[in-house]
Amino acid sequence: MNDLNERKTFALTTPLYYVNDIPHIGSAYTTIVADVMARWQRLQGNSVLLITGTDEHGQKIERTAAAKGLNPQEHCDRIVTSFANLWAKLHIQYDRFSRTTAPRHQAIVNEFFERVWEKGDIYLDRQQGWYCVACEEFKEKRELLDNGCCPIHTNLAAEWRDEENYFFRLSKYQAQLEQIYQEQPNFIQPESRRNEVLNFVNQGLQDFSISRVNVAWGFPIPHDGQHTIYVWFDALLGYVTALLDPEDEPTLENALAKWWPIDLHLIGKDILRFHAIYWPAMLMSAGLPLPKRVFGHGFLTKDGRKMGKSLGNTLDPFDLVDRYGADAVRYYFVKEIELGQDGDFQETRFVNILNADLANDLGNLLNRTLGMVKKYCQNIPPQLTGVDIPNDNRLKNMGINLGVIVEQKYDALQFNQACEEILALIRASNKFIDESAPWSLFKQKQQAAVEKVLYAVLESVRLCAYLLSPIIPTLSSKIYQQLGFVIDFNTFRSEDGENSPDGVSFSKHCQWGLPTNPQLGTPEPIFSKLELPLNDS
Ligand code: MSP
Repeated sequence: MNDLNERKTFALTTPLYYVNDIPHIGSAYTTIVADVMARWQRLQGNSVLLITGTDEHGQKIERTAAAKGLNPQEHCDRIVTSFANLWAKLHIQYDRFSRTTAPRHQAIVNEFFERVWEKGDIYLDRQQGWYCVACEEFKEKRELLDNGCCPIHTNLAAEWRDEENYFFRLSKYQAQLEQIYQEQPNFIQPESRRNEVLNFVNQGLQDFSISRVNVAWGFPIPHDGQHTIYVWFDALLGYVTALLDPEDEPTLENALAKWWPIDLHLIGKDILRFHAIYWPAMLMSAGLPLPKRVFGHGFLTKDGRKMGKSLGNTLDPFDLVDRYGADAVRYYFVKEIELGQDGDFQETRFVNILNADLANDLGNLLNRTLGMVKKYCQNIPPQLTGVDIPNDNRLKNMGINLGVIVEQKYDALQFNQACEEILALIRASNKFIDESAPWSLFKQKQQAAVEKVLYAVLESVRLCAYLLSPIIPTLSSKIYQQLGFVIDFNTFRSEDGENSPDGVSFSKHCQWGLPTNPQLGTPEPIFSKLELPLNDS
């Protein structure tokens, strides 16, 4: 926990999602991961700004709206509500929702454009090439499949374009970008993504077009009303607009005052070039500091296959949360997939993992331990602290190091490893109960020994619940409440800091050995076993 006056700031972003359709599981995945990181930062007492939002301009959206017979703004307004709904269902604690059609965003885009223009980095030229409307990106002929589609959108042929566009002098920033990648090896993560970027940049950067003449749905280029601004140039700046406080005048100076530079851009691997090459070059041109870290995660597949509407195997995040609950969905994607790697969803596996980890290992552990407190201690938890437990106690040994280990894992975005470390203590606690058999100790009238066992286990469960709270906030809150705390991890904000309702500082909560609360909450199962849908069993 930082001193309240010296609280660190931490700003992070999800991509701003296209509103061509309601959110899919890919958008949910990035947003869950970002929320986990934001919650972790808040637990540590930092001032956090989690930015998400929607990318609403461009040809893809223009065409989608036209196909529905709606004007584009009306279409965007409808779709945006579905994003807000899904984030509420998934308990995403975002601080800003940036929409690129907001009028104040136009002011930021214009001011930024002017800076780059003044720098001499924008010029008019002829653009020829293959354009994937779904990616909103020009592709090299060699990148396209035999059917003329890009590898990501295999059912939509790239279109030939030949038009006058304004270009951004990306090539001018080649050396400066290379220097950044060398000097800040953690700028692009994980390592495999960094290598991808280095290889691409090594081939020589080419200027890219930042205007369109055949797309009406976008902000006009300030110097030439015949063109609209290319959707990606506009969208990346949505991160900047999001930094404005609601009452701020929309100027770059105001936007950049408190939270800039962004600490972490979390994105999928398909949009790495935009974030790790184009975006820093644009910022250099405008004379602004660069974000600190860009992390590109992998792609999700279902039952080992690429997901897609046309393939008929999409995974609906709304349906998944309705059937299994937010914490279950959050836990699976965070624990089962190493961030940065591709990951698979398989429903049987999903159900088995949740039942094993959350219902059995964690849920039963709490339940059986509270049952024994009732039976052997008149429902008064042992009034002990960590110092009362011998140093060679296995749980104490694991517990006192766990906070530090897990902290490193969270900071490095190795959330699956954080889960494994925590699970190890949960499993060790189950084993410890079995081996120390408090029921026999009780029969032998060794009350002090019974109490030590139960204290060590309950304290381990508490610590695990605390450390898992960024991932499964509702379950962790239930555990905390049953252990007699009044902390709700879904409403907790780092601003509560040292003045947390129970008067215990949050920095202490990540240590093993807290005194027990004399009064427990009502014991009840925290996670009911999930059933497989019939056709899957
Ligand atoms: N609008 C741009 C981002 C602009 S940011 C200034 C965009 N939007 S998107 O809606 O198409 O994609 C959003 C995110 O979803 C990307 O990070 C992308 O990687 C992610 N995913 C899309 N499909 C995915 C999977 N199948 N699996 C995991 N994530 C995937 O790109």
